[in-house]
Amino acid sequence: MSIDGRQFRNALGHFATGVCVVTAATDGGPVGLTINSFASVSLDPPLVLWSLDRASDRAEAFHIVDRFAINVLPEELRELSVQLAKKGAHAVPDDALEPEEHGIPVLSGALARFVCTVEARYDGGDHVIMVGRVDSFTHVHEGRPLLYYRGAYRTLADQTEG
Ligand SMILES: Cc1cc2nc3c(=O)[nH]c(=O)nc-3n(C[C@H](O)[C@H](O)[C@H](O)COP(=O)(O)O)c2cc1C
Repeated sequence: MSIDGRQFRNALGHFATGVCVVTAATDGGPVGLTINSFASVSLDPPLVLWSLDRASDRAEAFHIVDRFAINVLPEELRELSVQLAKKGAHAVPDDALEPEEHGIPVLSGALARFVCTVEARYDGGDHVIMVGRVDSFTHVHEGRPLLYYRGAYRTLADQTEG
């Protein structure tokens, strides 16, 4: 069966996700990439994954690093998400960063952060599946997530906070 790429994307877009920024330290300074492929993998050992587009300008940086942080975005960081999804816009603005955790730049205002050591990189077709072992994490106890659904940013209609 041949797959229509656009229709495939449209079908995948029905899976509503949160939005994250992956951050890492490079020789050129902190880099960040907006992603929605984040998923938990294992509780013991604590593993998470995300998929890196091989065609990304940032792919080389993430092929080299041995540590990264996943920052789960609140709705207030939508503009930062847009910015860090722009072609070639890799640098994380200084005012978006917090003092580094274990030498890894992290975003201030994130709902949750997972600082990871790269456990494995698997071939995932035109993406690389990045598996991270969580070294440390933080999370807030309130806040509203930024969501992505059918090609657009969304927010929770539900007004209750957990
Ligand atoms: C909501 C959203 C989710 C995204 N998820 C991913 C992802 O999981 N993996 C990825 O490599 N790129 C993802 N991207 C694309 C990158 O953020 C970026 O746009 C792309 O890599 C092109 O820029 P670059 O070549 O400068 O890296 C996503 C973009 C958006 C807006």
